[in-house]
Amino acid sequence: MRGEPVINVRNLTCAYGDFVVVRDISFEVNEGEVFVILGGSGCGKSTVLKHMIGLYEPAEGSVSIHGRRLTGAGERERNEILRSFGVMYQMGALFGSMSLMQNVMLPLEEFTDLPREAREMVAVAKLAMVGLDKFAYNLPSTLSGGMQKRAAIARAMALDPGILFLDEPSAGLDPVTSAELDELIRSLSRNLGITFVIVSHELASIYSIADRVIMLDKQTKGIVAEGDPRQLREGSASETVRSFFNREPAHHADDGHCPVPAEEGA
Ligand SMILES: Nc1ncnc2c1ncn2[C@@H]1O[C@H](COP(=O)(O)OP(=O)(O)OP(=O)(O)O)[C@@H](O)[C@H]1O
Ligand SMILES: [Mg+2]
Repeated sequence: MRGEPVINVRNLTCAYGDFVVVRDISFEVNEGEVFVILGGSGCGKSTVLKHMIGLYEPAEGSVSIHGRRLTGAGERERNEILRSFGVMYQMGALFGSMSLMQNVMLPLEEFTDLPREAREMVAVAKLAMVGLDKFAYNLPSTLSGGMQKRAAIARAMALDPGILFLDEPSAGLDPVTSAELDELIRSLSRNLGITFVIVSHELASIYSIADRVIMLDKQTKGIVAEGDPRQLREGSASETVRSFFNREPAHHADDGHCPVPAEEGA
C-alpha cells in the first residue's frame, strides 16, 4: 500500500551552537504516508522539521528528499528540492493585510511565471480543495482559527507539492475544529496521495491521522519509539512511551515526563 521512501534522514544531529537538541537520529518517510513526529514540548520536533526542510543545516548527518541530498546542496539544486514540498509553520500565520487568495498566490508569484489570471485560478482551486473558495477575497482576520489553518494548508499546496510539512496544525483549535482538520488531512492524503510529515503532540489527532510515528525524547536526545501509534500504546517495552500513549486524549501531552526548563519557555 505504501510506497518507497521519499525522505531519508541519516544520522542527523541538530544543534543551536553548542546546544545539541537531537543526536544521531535516522528515519525514512514513505511515499503517501502520514508520518507524525511526536514528543513532549521542547523535545525538538520543530527543530527536526526545520532541518528536514532545509531551513537549518545539520550539525551532522543529512536529509535527502526524493533521493536528492538537500544538505549541502548548491543553490539551484536546493531551489528545485524546495519546490517539491509545501510547509505550514507552527507560527505559520497568513499575511493579515492580504486576502486568502493573495496569500495562496504568493508562492506562485515567487516560483512561477504564470500570468496573473492563471495564478488567481490556481489559488481559487487550492482554496476550493480546503473548502474555502467562497472566502477567497476575505482577510484572514475575518475567519475562524480552523479556517485560517485550512487557508495556510492551501497556500502550502500552491505549487502542487508531493510532500506537505505541517507543524502543529491543530494547535489552539477546539476538539471539533481539530477533528475537521484531521479529516481534511486524511482526505488530501487519500485523494491526492500527498505525503504528510506532521509535528503533533495531540494524541487524539495522532491516532486519527498517523500511519507511522517517531517519538523524540528530550532526555536521550533520540528516537524512543517508532511505528504504528496504536501498537505503541499497547506493546511498547518502554514505560515512557506507554505512558505517553496512554494519556487521556484531551490531556496535554507535554505536562509530564518531558518538562521544559523555566528559562527556555514553551
Ligand atoms: N532558534 C533557536 N535557537 C536556540 N535554541 C532553540 C531555537 N529553537 C528552539 N530551540 C531550543 O531547542 C529545543 C527544542 O525546541 P523545539 O522548538 O524544536 O521543540 P518542540 O518539540 O517543537 O517543542 P513544542 O512542542 O513546544 O513546539 C528547546 O530547548 C528550544 O528552547
Ligand atoms: Mg514545536
